Amino acid sequence: MKFFVDTADIDDIRDLAATGLLDGVTTNPSLVAKSGRKFIPLIEEICEIVSGPVSAEVAATDYETMRKEAEILRKIADNIAVKVPLTPAGLKVCKELSDGGTMVNVTLCFSPAQAILAAKAGATFVSPFVGRLDDISEDGLGLISDICRIYENYPSFDTEVLVASVRNPLHIVESAKMGAHVATCPPSVIRQLYNHPLTTQGLETFVEDWKKTGQSIL
Ligand code: G3P
Repeated sequence: MKFFVDTADIDDIRDLAATGLLDGVTTNPSLVAKSGRKFIPLIEEICEIVSGPVSAEVAATDYETMRKEAEILRKIADNIAVKVPLTPAGLKVCKELSDGGTMVNVTLCFSPAQAILAAKAGATFVSPFVGRLDDISEDGLGLISDICRIYENYPSFDTEVLVASVRNPLHIVESAKMGAHVATCPPSVIRQLYNHPLTTQGLETFVEDWKKTGQSIL
């Protein structure tokens, strides 16, 4: 499973990239607003830090403007994935971009039917929002299961399932069991993955016992 970080915070991106475990970055207009940064220079900087896909989202909702914005975004770097909303206009832009060899992330997917459309439009990634469905008492992980099962039935679909709106490690683990290709997670959730009380406790014991040996490896 690939890990993307869902943030526009450069310090977090640098920190997680240094682990060697980060495969890409996703941003959205809300994350950019939170960063307080200018959008294009921010995306340029992220693309210099991370060699994997970096999702940069269009701001327009109409086809013509979206297409023009996508044209600017795709030229920022070779690893840009233009992010478009799951709307008729967004999927039209998706089809054109993917036909031209640009990576596209189709965002705001909340149903299996929408995910089928994204695959037919040639999306590189489809982003089903698990946490936001859970927030309204719907089954976010059930959506991931449905999309993975549907895509498996059609080998010609090469769209990757990018689990988005991740709120906790269980969302990642359960999605991995279903075969989702990518999880994009807030930095805090990626850091949570390392934690287990028995790891902490076991390491404390090893450190103490090693001291008793009076030895040094170096
Ligand atoms: O970036 C898309 C998605 O991951 C947003 O998640 O936490 O705002 O529901 P959230």
